[in-house]
Amino acid sequence: MRQTVFVSKGVPQRAAELLKKQGYRVVRGTSAAREGRGAAAVLCLLTDKVDAKTMDAIGPQLKVISNMAAGTDNIDVAAAEKRGVSVANTPDVLTETVAEHAVGLLLVLSRRIVEGDWFVRKGKYKGWKPDLLLGQELRGKTLGIVGYGRIGCRTAEILQKGFGMKVVYHDIKGSGVHEACGAKKISLQELLEQSDAVSLHVPMLSSTRHLISKKELKAMKKTAYLVNTSRGPVVDEKALVASLERNEIAGAALDVFENEPRLAPGLAKLDNIVLTPHIASASKEARDAMAKLAAKNIIEVLENL
Ligand code: GLV
Repeated sequence: MRQTVFVSKGVPQRAAELLKKQGYRVVRGTSAAREGRGAAAVLCLLTDKVDAKTMDAIGPQLKVISNMAAGTDNIDVAAAEKRGVSVANTPDVLTETVAEHAVGLLLVLSRRIVEGDWFVRKGKYKGWKPDLLLGQELRGKTLGIVGYGRIGCRTAEILQKGFGMKVVYHDIKGSGVHEACGAKKISLQELLEQSDAVSLHVPMLSSTRHLISKKELKAMKKTAYLVNTSRGPVVDEKALVASLERNEIAGAALDVFENEPRLAPGLAKLDNIVLTPHIASASKEARDAMAKLAAKNIIEVLENL
């Protein structure tokens, strides 16, 4: 009998095609718990919450949950493990795209590009001035990477090689990949105190929730920038709003939010912040590769049972 794969509605069609070509019966829908009953696999998005209840509703034949994302924080991984269900994700294929976005956000902040855009649109541009919207050059400045995995490392490499920044990093782990990037590992406190730009690249874990809160923001330089392309709850948004209102840091750029898609009160009113709607991995290349890899991850698990 053909096995069923539940594919979440927003997943690109090419992923479903790949699974069909492989002989699986594909069911598309919005709720794995309701429409995925009897499925051997689930292909979901980071916006789909897959908890123990959902897994039980799908049934004991469930073998793999494949997330079209690098993060797996929307899935109860411990509950999956308990039920013998594999959890797969799509790292690597989005590294370059996310790193480019982090670099882009830093440039937007340091060269005040979004502010400049608004300035022109609002008709405030009345002519060239030597001190109009002065930003900061990146060359020679210190970049602090928090979470030195693939994306953190690549972001560091681009900013080090291309822009002449010095790199320091903080990570709870220390593996080969870290040393390969040639950056110095220091404590989070030291990193916050020394960096002119802090870029966050940690996964969402209970230990990384509000990793950057009031105390950490206070430790940062008044001239420093904060960039978050990891997960929203890594930053205490309320504390960030308060810090930016008091100009305790120079600016922040967020691609992710604590309660997506909602924003903390006051966040959107600030002019020292840049906001993008969780699009760090949104290049055609990365999303295409993520969709294919998410489907392949299912095939690999089901074929190797
Ligand atoms: C995007 O946020 C991802 O985890 O892939």
